[in-house]
Amino acid sequence: MSHRSKVVLAYSGGLDTSVSIPWLREKKGADVVALTVNVGQPGDLERVRQKAEASGASRAYLVDARQEFAEEFIAPALRANALYEGIYPLSTALARPLIGRHLVEVARREGASYVAHGCTGKGNDQVRFDLATTSLAPDLEVIAPAREWKMTREQEVAFAEQHGIPVAAGPKSPYSTDENLWGRSVECGVLEDPAVEPPEEVYGWTRSPEAAPDEPTHVQVAFERGLPVSVDGHRAPLHELIVRLNRTAGDAGVGRIDHLESRVVGIKSREVYECPAAAVLITAHQALEGLTLPRDLLDFKRTVEQRYAQMVYDGFWFSPLRNALDAFVASTQERVTGEVAVKLYKGSAKVVGRRSPYSIYQHSLATYSTGDRFRPEMSEGFIYVWGLPARTWAAIGSKPTVAAARAAKYRP
Ligand code: ARG
Repeated sequence: MSHRSKVVLAYSGGLDTSVSIPWLREKKGADVVALTVNVGQPGDLERVRQKAEASGASRAYLVDARQEFAEEFIAPALRANALYEGIYPLSTALARPLIGRHLVEVARREGASYVAHGCTGKGNDQVRFDLATTSLAPDLEVIAPAREWKMTREQEVAFAEQHGIPVAAGPKSPYSTDENLWGRSVECGVLEDPAVEPPEEVYGWTRSPEAAPDEPTHVQVAFERGLPVSVDGHRAPLHELIVRLNRTAGDAGVGRIDHLESRVVGIKSREVYECPAAAVLITAHQALEGLTLPRDLLDFKRTVEQRYAQMVYDGFWFSPLRNALDAFVASTQERVTGEVAVKLYKGSAKVVGRRSPYSIYQHSLATYSTGDRFRPEMSEGFIYVWGLPARTWAAIGSKPTVAAARAAKYRP
């Protein structure tokens, strides 16, 4: 790269991204602009921004993207009930394209021709950042320092110290974590043995089910067109509802996930997640769809949901297919309006009630008591026609056995 080219670096303040700043300056001769995006992670992000400047960034941006993350990334994923491998709500996966979009925006503003991120070469996040960038700005090049340098952790710490970058004192946690509004992920340490139960210390958002209150907590979630608009009658923007539910459900021990996960790069990895709000909202949303959508639509939507989740996981957020699937999902949500009661109890989130002005549950059809308007005599003819293929098949097979018929035909 040419001398003094500008690079916009996604900056978290952790060791890898901190070391990336002097590394990009020295090894690539780059002018580094840092970008920290608030997606709901904890910590003083203004201090993170200042640390980027102190580490040698010529400029450091901090963007609060919590509302944008909830409305443009989490909301469509929730409408799609997106769960990778049926279990992971894609918390990290959804934040990456958002951060990628901001990287591109800052690169344009700064006239930079490179963006950079701190991902290693073994994970999914490099795929997501690289694909987001190339999909939005095919002319920009991506640099991933941690994919290029061949430093051990100890060498990184030494490099940081040589460059006056403060390294957190004391024994470093053996775990690698990532947090945002939609969840917290934990990997490494003892979790790398998939046979071992995760120790209590890996959890940060949730109480253990054993330590959760002995009394259940009920939450009432109201949806309009497939999106949550209030919790317990308290109307608020989606990102605030999520924060609130993470606390309420996490206190009840809800949202712990132990996933033996299939990464894009072919590696199996053991990941632990805490996604209390996602657990409640996806469960409630599915229940409301069950009340308001017909069987064939539910069934077809499930296959779309799986594909959708996989595309998000694989880094194809900004793609024509995901956009098209989104349009399909959006059109299914017109009547997904109503309220769902969820009971939180020692790690479980169970739907215990649902209502909707668009409910297609008809008491007069379902009841076994007075008021029944179903016409059971019609069932006999219906089943006769419905079962014709089965009857025909069985009747033919029961004449001679298949083997006997073959033997008769081919006897010389
Ligand atoms: N395995 C999860 C995913 O691919 C979580 C990744 C967490 N990322 C991280 N840099 N710690 O979405």
